[in-house]
Amino acid sequence: MTQTQDDNKRKTAEAALEYIKGISIIGVGTGSTVNHFINYLADLKSEIEGTVSSSNGTTARLKELGIPVLDLNAVGDIEVYVDGADEVSPQKQLVKGGGGALTREKIIAAASKQFVCIADESKAVDVLGAFPLPIEVIPMARSYVAREMVKLGGQPEWRENFITDNGNQIIDVHNMEIMEPIAMEKTINDIPGVVTVGIFALRPADVILLGSPDGIITR
Ligand code: A5P
Repeated sequence: MTQTQDDNKRKTAEAALEYIKGISIIGVGTGSTVNHFINYLADLKSEIEGTVSSSNGTTARLKELGIPVLDLNAVGDIEVYVDGADEVSPQKQLVKGGGGALTREKIIAAASKQFVCIADESKAVDVLGAFPLPIEVIPMARSYVAREMVKLGGQPEWRENFITDNGNQIIDVHNMEIMEPIAMEKTINDIPGVVTVGIFALRPADVILLGSPDGIITR
């Protein structure tokens, strides 16, 4: 990551603060962009009731800064969810899961009223799929799901030596040109053994904040 990219990530994280004004429970995603957001959130911790975290990594970071982490089961719907993405389409559909946290991220996105996606401008694409598509799978289904993904035109690669927070494995599928994200999300979700596919199209983001050297681009 270049210095400019990291700076763009920090600026977009700062811009997200506008969306959490007066909000008491905030969903918090995972990744380097969100880590900047967590740093800003630490300054506001006295003003919020707490957060719902999308990964063990994020939970550790939040707790380290003294920000309360709540169980999703105990809070009901979340007002605002702030998270990054690996790819962002013009329709606000996303590819996520580069950090392997896609399942909990998708749960929190679904349970949130507003999903604010923060990313640097390099994540914006016309068509999703150039970034290898992450799929969390039940370990015994890995090879089967991989073969099914070959039938769908992709080239799956096992993310070796990586176990998700849920005890599962990840395959990253290369060379997918995702022309119909909603249909593709449903098709892959239906393969037995798939826990979650990293296409976020059925529940896209509501707001996209893209950091660029010229400022924040809001979609
Ligand atoms: C985590 O599993 C991903 O969905 C992240 O949201 C994504 O990888 C963005 O990461 P960065 O903010 O580090 O680019």
